[in-house]
Amino acid sequence: MTTDPFSLFDSWFAEAQASEPNDPNAMALATADAQGRPAVRMVLLKGHGPDGFVFYTNRGSRKAEDLAANAQAALLFHWKSLRRQVRIEGPISIVSDAESDAYFDSRGRDSQLGAWASEQSRPLAARSIFEARFEAMQFRFEGSDVPRPPHWGGYRVTPQRIEFWQDRAHRLHERRLFTRTNEEESVGWAEGLLYP
Ligand SMILES: Cc1cc2nc3c(=O)[nH]c(=O)nc-3n(C[C@H](O)[C@H](O)[C@H](O)COP(=O)(O)O)c2cc1C
Repeated sequence: MTTDPFSLFDSWFAEAQASEPNDPNAMALATADAQGRPAVRMVLLKGHGPDGFVFYTNRGSRKAEDLAANAQAALLFHWKSLRRQVRIEGPISIVSDAESDAYFDSRGRDSQLGAWASEQSRPLAARSIFEARFEAMQFRFEGSDVPRPPHWGGYRVTPQRIEFWQDRAHRLHERRLFTRTNEEESVGWAEGLLYP
């Protein structure tokens, strides 16, 4: 058995990319506010490796407020056609400006303008207001590159715990749990099986 959850994640993710009808990189992101109240929503995985799992969002959003108050998160992938689940838990950090810029530059122009137009999680009196803001941004950046908005960027979840769940016959499902052996240094993993 591998003792590296990242290479196992890579192989499951590659299989999901080949088999899922859409959004194999969609994952539920759970946060909690300062009172410990949980909230969950979907986001897209935009980078991953031994240092963690990255998504991008508006830093004025409700999830960003939660993460500012409580810098811990959980992620969940469910790949239905493979009958697999991956759970990831750990502290969260802000992705560097350079890394966020590089990802923003790789997006389509409409997505870039949308990031400027959106005030994510704020009340919106009418859809037409958002559309008008989008048009205003088209005008503002006409003929030039769209820079990354200061309120938009990435977050990285650095896992302390990763669990892989695989459906097996007769409900004898398999659960492999990887936990960091040293939380301080973020090195080394212990692996065990859990009752399904
Ligand atoms: C499949 C899917 C992928 C999504 N990906 C993202 C994403 O990568 N970033 C993001 O900010 N919102 C994404 N959303 C929208 C979020 O689920 C959510 O509605 C929004 O970010 C506001 O969440 P908040 O109010 O908890 O901050 C996605 C929604 C779906 C259904």
